[in-house]
Amino acid sequence: MTSVSGTAGYGENAQALADQYESIAFAEVHRDVAHLIPAAPARIADIGAGSGRDAAALARMGHAVVAAEPTPELRQQGQRRHALPNLEWVDDALPDLALLRGQGRAFDVIMLTAVWMHLDADERRLGMQALAALLAPQGQILMSLRHGPVPPGRRMFDVSAQETIALAAGHGLSSHHLSSREDMLDRADVRWSFLGLRRS
Ligand SMILES: C[S@@+](CC[C@H](N)C(=O)[O-])C[C@H]1O[C@@H](n2cnc3c(N)ncnc32)[C@H](O)[C@@H]1O
Repeated sequence: MTSVSGTAGYGENAQALADQYESIAFAEVHRDVAHLIPAAPARIADIGAGSGRDAAALARMGHAVVAAEPTPELRQQGQRRHALPNLEWVDDALPDLALLRGQGRAFDVIMLTAVWMHLDADERRLGMQALAALLAPQGQILMSLRHGPVPPGRRMFDVSAQETIALAAGHGLSSHHLSSREDMLDRADVRWSFLGLRRS
């Protein structure tokens, strides 16, 4: 049974999915927002970190990174593939991010890559509140949204960048980046939005 909303279909295929995620470079996935990632060491949370491709790349850049991944099998893949002293793996999940919030953590960058559209509308409302609470005063959220058919066995919703920007506005956040691009894995029916949010 899947206990965390949005994680359906991930645990069963964790090794193959991790291989797929690791087949693309951080720089290629995040080419639209690379200029927004701080040069100086920052506190970064990667929510729904998967195999840790991005979390590890950010840790190698010198950032202090927390990789939050609720699917145990993916978290284990990540811990095995990317053991770095400045990369901390935690079992935490949207919409509440209860562990990180309970610890009173604050982050300069919160990344959500291919995660947000796994939440339904109620969860997205709660999730945005949790993200705003974890964001340092000058911090930013960098999020990607997948648009296209739902892969078999997954729980995914059609979530636009515009509705995400509107939701964020209710939490005192506004958009400083919005771009759209083709799929990094060359799937013709998949497109992506990249979104940057920070305090208005
Ligand atoms: C498409 S994968 C992306 C993984 C990674 N961010 C990447 O880009 O390679 C989606 C990830 O979101 C995670 N996820 C699903 N529901 C979640 C939730 N409610 N809270 C946090 N993560 C979730 C899944 O376990 C999975 O690791």
